[in-house]
Amino acid sequence: MKIKSINSLGSDELRGQNVLVRVDFNCPIEGGKVTDDTRIRETLPTIEYLLNQGAKPILMSHLGRPKGKRVAEMSLKPVADALKEIAKTKWGAELIFAEDCLGDEAKMALDALAKVSKGMVLLENLRFYKAEEENSIEFAKSLSVYGKLFIQDAFGTVHRAHASTEAITQFLPSYAGLLVEKELQNLGDLLSNPPRPFIAVIGGSKVSTKIEILENLVKKVDALLIGGGMTYTFLKAKDIPIGSSIVEKDYLGHAFSIMSRAQDSKTDFVLPVDHLITNEVSENGKTKVVAQNGIPDDWFGVDIGPKTISLFQDRIKNAGTIFWNGPIGVFEIAKFAKGTEAVAKAMQKTKAKTIVGGGDVISALHKFGAADSVTHVSTGGGASLEFLSGKKLPGVLPLIEE
Ligand code: 3PG
Repeated sequence: MKIKSINSLGSDELRGQNVLVRVDFNCPIEGGKVTDDTRIRETLPTIEYLLNQGAKPILMSHLGRPKGKRVAEMSLKPVADALKEIAKTKWGAELIFAEDCLGDEAKMALDALAKVSKGMVLLENLRFYKAEEENSIEFAKSLSVYGKLFIQDAFGTVHRAHASTEAITQFLPSYAGLLVEKELQNLGDLLSNPPRPFIAVIGGSKVSTKIEILENLVKKVDALLIGGGMTYTFLKAKDIPIGSSIVEKDYLGHAFSIMSRAQDSKTDFVLPVDHLITNEVSENGKTKVVAQNGIPDDWFGVDIGPKTISLFQDRIKNAGTIFWNGPIGVFEIAKFAKGTEAVAKAMQKTKAKTIVGGGDVISALHKFGAADSVTHVSTGGGASLEFLSGKKLPGVLPLIEE
């Protein structure tokens, strides 16, 4: 897959031009402040590239799921404040925030941008307009008049067919930004030529949200290590007692078929061999360690046990490539966090190429001080899973060279 890259655009194409850039500034916000600016920082190389070539970026993003209504807590204003500071100190550039996407505010922001020598506009939350998620052609057309080119740099949103990710590409020549390129390169390498053994560590509570990725990965990896709440759906599908642990009864058939596929593909399907269990999923719960088939009624599996920790550490140490998505236990509660912590630290020590995706794993890596050593942290939770499931992503298709 060859992608049309922003790198192929030089100052001849960019100087003096307004360029529409779809970014994913869907950042956590508390008390009117951005609490994790990773997604802003990851987009800076693209913004810098455009500024250096003399272009003026018109940035557009969604934040949260306001469902077509203006919701004050989902305004991009806190993001604008954070980026304004960066723009000033890093590039001596202005950031002008438009409090809407189509109305007078946007027009005034564009007029103001024309008067500054170096600057950018950030439009208000695209999802304040129903038309955005409806992939509306009219909405996309109205946005498209703001720029001469379209750059897709919102990797976290490329799995959505929305006006600002798909319909817009009908109106403007479209290119991948540097973040989207980096993500596609790193995730694409996992599917094409990963150093072996290639293992995937998949956790989280639900099998249902990860069926496609499990089905696809099971054919590609040498071993699939399962942790988190989804463990118990797999164990139940094998008729192993799980006490009162979380289970998705409607997905037992899927779980069984994923394990059969693993067998057919000669992939090691590694389920926890012991568990940490509790009688109450809270700080106050009593805990004990039991064997794989030893969870009594009224007890809940909340983490992997010490034997499984050693097993996972060993696999991670000896791997060539590791993809990790989803926490291994209820790590928000300190006494159930040992499994997730051990995996995070093992990822830090291994010489393997390590790729992680998903907000929970990223916060676990930060919590246990292991974020810096990972080869690639994907900014897209859902997008990275859909890409690795082998799906064609609506935000990527228009960027492919013919
Ligand atoms: C994300 O946080 O995964 C992306 O910003 C996409 O958000 P969405 O799931 O609301 O489309």
